[in-house]
Amino acid sequence: MAEPIERNLGLDLVRVTETAALGAARWLGRGDKEAVDQAAVDGMRLHLSTLDIDGIVVIGEGEKDEAPMLYNGERVGTGQGMVVDVAVDPIDGTTLTAHGLPGAITVIAIAEGRGTMYDPGPFVYMDKIAVGPDAAGLIDLDAPIADNLKKIAKARGKEIGELRCLILDRDRNRRHIEEVRAVGARISLFRDGDVAAAIATAEDDEEVDVMLGIGGSPEAVIAAAALKCMGGEIQCRLWARNEEEKLRAQDMGTDLTRVLTTNDLVSSDNVFFAATGVTGGEFLKPVVFTGSDHATTHSVIMRSKTGSIRYMEAKHDLRRLRELSEDGILD
Ligand code: FBP
Repeated sequence: MAEPIERNLGLDLVRVTETAALGAARWLGRGDKEAVDQAAVDGMRLHLSTLDIDGIVVIGEGEKDEAPMLYNGERVGTGQGMVVDVAVDPIDGTTLTAHGLPGAITVIAIAEGRGTMYDPGPFVYMDKIAVGPDAAGLIDLDAPIADNLKKIAKARGKEIGELRCLILDRDRNRRHIEEVRAVGARISLFRDGDVAAAIATAEDDEEVDVMLGIGGSPEAVIAAAALKCMGGEIQCRLWARNEEEKLRAQDMGTDLTRVLTTNDLVSSDNVFFAATGVTGGEFLKPVVFTGSDHATTHSVIMRSKTGSIRYMEAKHDLRRLRELSEDGILD
C-alpha cells in the first residue's frame, strides 16, 4: 500500500502565529507586557486546538502552576495526526511590543516524535552561538570567540572587520562583546528577541554573520528548529545564574559544561516552523492595520524535510474573522 501523503503542517502553523500577532499588535506601545502576552497566547491557543496533531508542549509559557495556558506538558491539537513535540513563543519580544519597538515576532515550531525537543528544565539561560549554512559545521562553542570568528569570516568570504555579530545587550554578555571587539569584528547589540537574531544569520541577504551570547533557553530550542530548516547551526551550553543554580544542576546530574548541538536541541528530522512579525524589524515586517477593520501580516513558514522557506503576506478582514469565529469558523 502506498504511504499516506504527508502535508506541510507549517501552512497550518502560520495561522497560529498570524492570529497571535494580530492580537498582540493591538497592544503595541501601550506599556502593558501582560496584555501583549495574553493576547498572543489566546490567539495561539485558539488555533492550536484545531490542528490535526497529537502534540505536547515542551517549550511553553512555563510550568503548569505558573502558566494557565500553553504550559510545559500541556497536550495540544486534536489528538489526531502526527505525534509531535511543540515549542511556542507566543511573543519573542514582549517588552519590545509593549514599548512599540522593532524586533518582536510570534513563533511556533513542531518536531515529529515524542522527546524530540530538548527540555531545559529549570535553567532559564544558555550561552549560544548561531550561524547560517555557510559556517555550519565550523563553529565550536568551547573554542575562543576569536577562533570562531576567523572560521566564520573564511566561510563567508569576508574580512574579520566586515563581520557583523548580533549580541543581546546584557551585562552578562560583556565578555562576548569585549572578545569580539578585540579581534575587530563589528557588533550590533540588540535589546530583546534572540530567536529573530539567530534566524537572521541564515538569511540570504548576508547582513548578519553570527549571533552570540547568553539568552533564554526556550528561545535556543526554537532557534534550533528554525536553523535546522534553514541549514544553519546553533550550539549552546546551559548557563547558571548563581551558585544555587550550580548546586541544583549538580543535584539533578545536569552537566553545565556540555555543549548542546542543533540536533541535541531538536533531534527530529521532520521539523515545521512558522513565525509572524509583530513590530517589524530585520526579519519580518510588522502587523499593519490598514483601516476599516483590515490588517496585513508578514510571516515565514519552513520545513526541514524539504528545506522549503516561504514568506507569506496575508490580508485579513478582521470584522469577518470575528463574526465567523463566533460560529466556530477560524481562518
Ligand atoms: P521578552 O520576555 O520581552 O519577550 O524578551 C525575550 C528575550 O529577549 C529573548 O529573546 C531572550 O532570549 C531573553 O528575553 C533574554 O532574557 P532576559 O531578558 O532575562 O535577559
